[in-house]
This record gives sequence, structure tokens and C-alpha cells, in this order.
Amino acid sequence: MELIKRPRRLRKSAAIRNMVRETKLTVDDLIHPIFVVEGVEIKKEISSLKDVYHLSVDMLEQEVNEIQDLGINAVLVFGVPDSKDSLGSSAYDKEGIVQRAVRAIKAAAPDICVITDVCMCQYTDHGHCGIINFDEEVDNDTTLKYLSEIAVSHARAGADIVAPSDMMDGRIGAMRTGLDKNGFKDVSIMSYAVKYASSFYGPFRAAADSSPGFGDRKTYQMDIHNRAEALREAALDVEEGADFLMVKPALSYLDVVREVKDNFDLPLAVYNVSGEYAMIRNAVDNGIMDESVIYEMTMSMKRAGADLIITYFARYLAEKLK
Ligand code: PBG
Repeated sequence: MELIKRPRRLRKSAAIRNMVRETKLTVDDLIHPIFVVEGVEIKKEISSLKDVYHLSVDMLEQEVNEIQDLGINAVLVFGVPDSKDSLGSSAYDKEGIVQRAVRAIKAAAPDICVITDVCMCQYTDHGHCGIINFDEEVDNDTTLKYLSEIAVSHARAGADIVAPSDMMDGRIGAMRTGLDKNGFKDVSIMSYAVKYASSFYGPFRAAADSSPGFGDRKTYQMDIHNRAEALREAALDVEEGADFLMVKPALSYLDVVREVKDNFDLPLAVYNVSGEYAMIRNAVDNGIMDESVIYEMTMSMKRAGADLIITYFARYLAEKLK
């Protein structure tokens, strides 16, 4: 039989493969997470996340200079505070860990884009992402006031983008109003719009000391069985004024990433979360898979429609892309 159509023609050489490549990963796509702790001169590897560090505020200058030298545009800041209480009050304290970290980063590297994670679970003594009422439920509407206050305090410290990861209803609208009222009309909101109640966050919770003290997060984070619900969540956040959408986790939810990308035109971020990182990192470190799987996994997210990728491999990938 005479074959006319031969897809292999377009794979014949590296040059042709490059010419017909549909998706590319660049350093502009990467967002580098940073965990900030109290103390001085601390740079301590996180036991659940190899090659990821707890850094004290004084160590951030060196960190962001290195990140900038690699060509990475943005960092996502997480605070790991020493003191916690029922209202998570250190989350909106002017002298809180994130607020000091943002000021230090901006002083060291004014051009780097600083994104802050807005949530309460690292700051509350019960470890939930909001205010707990008498029924031991996370009270949605009370929590909104606190989230808005946290976002405003991050903006006041110099954050360019605030990224709420709590999954309360109405939080984007509440934060937009709070930011605008306080003169921060130009601060963007990157919404963790589609965030599932996932076991892939395990290593992060160990790193951030943010596991819930009782129960789980299933009354606010999304049910892993659902897809249509992701579109409803994203639509609400768009209506309320989000500037970016996010799907989290990434790797096990690439179907959802594609669906959100096809239905909304905002820039779309994915969070390649701690459990996904640990899984690949361990396999590579133990010689079970070749390290090229790191790039391959990241490419799958781009192919699925991600514009931006928050990843603990940001440094590694930036070095590879150089
Ligand atoms: C805080 C928050 C979490 C992550 C990012 N922000 C944990 C959670 O929701 O329990 C997870 C990130 C990761 O696993 O890398 N709400």
C-alpha cells in the first residue's frame, strides 16, 4: 500500500520539529514560591520539600537577586509565623512576617513582581482558612472582612498581586472593594479560583505548619469529583473582578485546566503543588526516572492551557532554559 499521509515527515529532524512545535515554555511563565520564617540568618531546607528553604527576612535579598539573575519575574510569598491565635491576627499585622518580607523584597529588587498568598490557615491556632464560629464551622461572611484586611495590608507593604487561597464565597469581590477603598486600584487579584480539597498539599502543610487542627477543608475547598463546579467557581471570580485565574493542583487536574482556559480569557495560572513536586523529585533523586520528566511534566501544564506555572522547580527550569 502506498502511504500518502506520513506524520513522521514533521518529526524528521530537530530543525523541523522546532518549526512545528506548538507549545513553548519560557522563563516568563514561571513563578517561584518563597517560605518566610521568623529569626535571622535562617536558610534551612524544608524536610518535606527537598531544595526548598525556610528563609528569614534578612536572607531574602540574596534569594530574590538570584531569582532575578535567572530571569524569573515573579515570586509567591508564604509566611510561616511564630505566633498563632483564633483570629489569625498576625496575618494582617503591619509588622507581620509577610508584610516585612514584602518590604524587604521590594527594597532589594524593586522590579520583581511580588505575589502574596492571602489565607488564614498558617496564622490561626485551629489551622483553618477562616474564622471558626460556635458550631466549629468556618464562617464565610465573617472571614471575608479579615481576608480583605489581609489583602490591604499586603498591598500597603508593596505587593503587586494578592492571591487568595481560602475558597470563601465572595472573597474576590470583598478584596477588590477593600483594595479600591484604600487606594490600591492597581493591585491585581490572582484568584485560586479552582482549588480542590487535595491530599497533594501534604508536604506544604508540613512546611507551613498549616494543617487543620480538627476536621478537613472539604466545606470550602472543592470536591475532587467535580468539573462543572470549576466553571461556576471561575465565573464568579471573573464577575467579582479577578485579574488572573488559577487551577490547583495542576498535574492531576489538567482536564480542568483546559476547560477553564477554553471558557475564560483571563491569564490562567496553575499551581504545581508540593505533593506533585515531592513525587517527581523523589523519583528523580532515587534514579527511578530521568530528570527530563521535570520539563515534560511542566510542558503538560502549558499544553493544557496554563499561561503561568507556580512551581518549586522554577529555579531548576530557569537554569535549564538559559
Ligand atoms: C493555604 C495554601 C495551601 C497551599 C497553598 N496555599 C495549603 C492548603 O490549602 O491546605 C498548598 C500549596 C502546595 O501544596 O504546594 N491555604
